[in-house]
Amino acid sequence: LEASPVTRPLIHFSSARNWLNDPNGLIFHDGRYHLYFQYNPNGAEHGYMSWGHASSRDLVRWEEHPVALRYTSEHEIFSGSAVFDARDTSGLGVDGQPPLIAVFTLADQTGGHQSQGIASSADGGETWAMHAGNPVLDRGSADFRDPKVFRYTGAAGEYWVMVAVEAVERKVVLYRSADLRHWEFLSDYGPRGTALGVWECPDLFPLAVDGDPDDVRWVLIISMNPGGLAGGSGTMYVIGSFDGVRFVPDAPVPDVAPGDETGAAELAALDWIDYGRDCYAGVTFSGLPDDERTLIAWMSNWEYAGAMPPAGPEPQRGAMTLARRLSLVTAGGRIRLRQDPVGPAVVPIVAITGAEVRPGAPRILDAPPVARIRLRLRLDDGASAELRLGDGAAPIAILRVRDGELSLDRRVGAAGLPEAFGSVEHLPLQPGGLDAMLWLDHGSIEVFADDGTAVLTDRLADRTCSRFEVRAVSGSVRIDELVVEAGEGLQA
Ligand code: FRU
Repeated sequence: LEASPVTRPLIHFSSARNWLNDPNGLIFHDGRYHLYFQYNPNGAEHGYMSWGHASSRDLVRWEEHPVALRYTSEHEIFSGSAVFDARDTSGLGVDGQPPLIAVFTLADQTGGHQSQGIASSADGGETWAMHAGNPVLDRGSADFRDPKVFRYTGAAGEYWVMVAVEAVERKVVLYRSADLRHWEFLSDYGPRGTALGVWECPDLFPLAVDGDPDDVRWVLIISMNPGGLAGGSGTMYVIGSFDGVRFVPDAPVPDVAPGDETGAAELAALDWIDYGRDCYAGVTFSGLPDDERTLIAWMSNWEYAGAMPPAGPEPQRGAMTLARRLSLVTAGGRIRLRQDPVGPAVVPIVAITGAEVRPGAPRILDAPPVARIRLRLRLDDGASAELRLGDGAAPIAILRVRDGELSLDRRVGAAGLPEAFGSVEHLPLQPGGLDAMLWLDHGSIEVFADDGTAVLTDRLADRTCSRFEVRAVSGSVRIDELVVEAGEGLQA
């Protein structure tokens, strides 16, 4: 009996049906992670934007719930965030119970106006009441969106801070509030990158460098579309300081050089959350301690998201990345963002240590439908290797490794997919070979190289990978360690 094809990912959240994009309102509350998301309740295309809802106790197994915030004839509900208003500063608590507050963009159905609104939940995030006084913040702008709110405590006092964007102006705007209902302007970051796309879905949060509580930096995340390094949508980060009013980068941030229409030099010099094509609009959870800063992103790209074949059995488009715990580490004399993915429990299937791979004699291994592959490859001078993912019939993707770089070629598996999907991505590596952890799921790969400081996320063709090959293309390639692990209890 042929198993029916599985067309939704197994360890990445996707809705049962319809369209989804950005994660919204990420919050850990009462022992549960809540994931709201940009959702079309009416179809598998972007439209009628509302907040879908799912929750999880472990960031891996998600349960989908009814739509949390619905579009109206006047507004769509665009991206935003959620906080626990523990002291009921908003006064929106019911019966003395502190509420959860969601902060989001009210996008006029006319397309000509975006302002920020709030809603409150008295039942831990299941149901939400729109605030009667919406909008709570209006700049009279058509492109003011994606508010991320957090509680600031520092020398300047204690208050709520909102980070949002003037998307078309490429500017991050910061506001403060005592009650989440009245907002006062703090400062701007930008405008910058005048030759590129819009800015979306910012986030701003503190992280200790190498775990040192006396060296806390602030990380500003900005999603850019188009203008991502790998083409289309992408997300950069800047490390700096925040004094409660203003974000100041630690070092000058590259900007578009005069005469460089494409901004290519700027893009290559920025710090990127991800070097792949399918990690966009990532933001972090509220309600967690600072040393458990956790990000989830939309695993797609505006360049082709709407043209991808919908999954079945009910038409569905869009999935999230794995959740990633963030930290700052010093690597190669620089401070870098490190991402540590949260996956399911795994059991080892195959382990190889200390093996030479010669050209013409590939190592061919079975790969389970959900796999974590830990791989340390050593390359001699001028050597190069290929990692092939396939389903027996043909490769779905080829990863090429040479000194200082991994590239991922998914053109090989792109037949029948939108033209823009056929692409090759490049991930800079520490010299000497490859030290990486790969997470494979149905239709995606996430590469965490160099201890999670170099990350590449790509959607792959809609086929379940069953085979993993290590090939030497030239020179001497040594497998120091290769461990294939299967997601426990996960079946295609
Ligand atoms: C980012 C984005 C946001 C907006 C939302 C609309 O992907 O464009 O700026 O709020 O999607 O769905």
